[in-house]
Amino acid sequence: MAAALAKDSIVAVIGSGAMGAGIAQVAAASGYQVRLFDTRPDAVAKAIADIGKVYGKLVEKGRMSGDEAAAANARLHRLGDLHEVDGAALVIEAIVENLDVKRMLFADLEKIVADDCILATNTSSISVTAIAAKLRRPERLVGMHFFNPVPLMALVEVISGLATAQDVADTVYATAAAWGKNPVHAKSTPGFIVNRVARPFYAEGLRLLSEQAADPATLDVLMREAGGFRMGPFELMDLIGHDVNFSVTQSVFNAYYGDPRFMPSVLQQEMVNAGFLGRKSGRGFYHYGEDAAKPVAQTMARQSRPETVGISMEPGVKNAVTEPVELRLREAGYTVTHRKPLPGAGHNEAPGFHCTGAAIFLTDGRTATERANANKHPDTVLYDLQFDAAGATRIALARADQCSESAWLATVGLFQATGLEVTQIDDVPGMVVMRTVAMLANEAADAVNQGVCSAEAVDIAMQKGVNYPRGPLAWADTVGIAHIVTVLSNLAATYGEDRYRVSPLLRRKLANGSRFHG
Ligand code: NAI
Repeated sequence: MAAALAKDSIVAVIGSGAMGAGIAQVAAASGYQVRLFDTRPDAVAKAIADIGKVYGKLVEKGRMSGDEAAAANARLHRLGDLHEVDGAALVIEAIVENLDVKRMLFADLEKIVADDCILATNTSSISVTAIAAKLRRPERLVGMHFFNPVPLMALVEVISGLATAQDVADTVYATAAAWGKNPVHAKSTPGFIVNRVARPFYAEGLRLLSEQAADPATLDVLMREAGGFRMGPFELMDLIGHDVNFSVTQSVFNAYYGDPRFMPSVLQQEMVNAGFLGRKSGRGFYHYGEDAAKPVAQTMARQSRPETVGISMEPGVKNAVTEPVELRLREAGYTVTHRKPLPGAGHNEAPGFHCTGAAIFLTDGRTATERANANKHPDTVLYDLQFDAAGATRIALARADQCSESAWLATVGLFQATGLEVTQIDDVPGMVVMRTVAMLANEAADAVNQGVCSAEAVDIAMQKGVNYPRGPLAWADTVGIAHIVTVLSNLAATYGEDRYRVSPLLRRKLANGSRFHG
């Protein structure tokens, strides 16, 4: 395992915009000598002044001593000319996202720096292999992909191109760790880890919206309050900007030669066409500004509490998803009676709750209407996945078209009795959280299957790079890989689209009975 570059080594940062300034701030605070260069000299002056202000704030908050701030400030230097990078041990490029411009910069740098100087690119979408291709020593170029804002986001994807030397990637990994970051190794493939695996988070939201499952505010609240995500997809796309988010999706889709997994959304294209780019334009899926109305998510009115509830379950079978729901029902004062599934009877599927004639199941990727029909039990209601059934504040329910009003309202009352807000969504396959999580896990599994990164790396990346509450593969372990495969298979059957094809690694794990972690 390679060691980090020694403290006091010279780290040159080329490009002093949002990313370059953040990288410089972190490196100088960690004891490294930082040299900043930009073709716009005023950009460097501004970056150094801004970093000084941030250090000042950290001192006020007691997170840095005055001496540490002064020392870190003293380690930041402006380069007037690119030739002054000559003593650097590491050069990190954070200039415009353009292959030719980046290639030109690295070709220039190679003429200046020592042979053992590591060259790193902060590109988020260009092949590291391609950037390195024309270099005299392509093995010393590596991706060092930080996330915005750099000082706050712990993840660094260390990207190896085809020619990158392992010790170069290892040194950059160890150096990022020495800067207090959480690095992960990845192979240079379109979107690397995060920008690839996160695509379904936005795409399934957009598809659910286009299928009229619910409005954006309702879908967002479900992803937050049931799914445990910090933001829902629509508020997050509004924050990122639809032009930026759409262009990342397009670039990954094109890079994978039109794989339907990554198909961009017509709905989002229209947002871009309209100039509804999100917060920055004052309008996206939401309206911004002082007089903008606050969006209201769908929440069911209070219903009376049903008397009893039971569960059909094979004796001795444990189920990680139904168990916390059952516990919550017990805490609400119910004696949940267990009974064996009755073959051929109305609700013969197990595990399933039953209450006032309603059969209530966790979504398995089929609609409630389809399950009601298959089970010959019209009064069927489905519930969506929750991140943490014990702590969640909301749950989504979907009602079969055939379901009676009394069975539906009894189910709503049952979940409300456990202290949950209940949101009704239209009867779409896979519901909201389950469908998104299944697709995130599928993409994460494919990334691992294709050798892009390890299972540990993908889960760290999604938690540290985009703040997911749990890694997608750990989530698949929790729900049960068998259930995730069922959800995806049912989605694939319903839509007839290759988009929902099950990752071979999920199938393999299912067949050999193993998990991703532990
Ligand atoms: P930015 O536009 O804020 O800053 C880029 C800076 O590079 C500008 O100050 C510009 O004057 C300077 N520059 C342009 N060409 C140059 C050259 N040939 N030599 C020296 N300086 C040059 O851009 P930002 O957002 O900081 O992004 C920089 C890089 O980081 C891009 O490759 C981007 O894809 C990548 N990145 C951006 C993220 C983000 O969220 N903004 C996240 C992760 C990576």
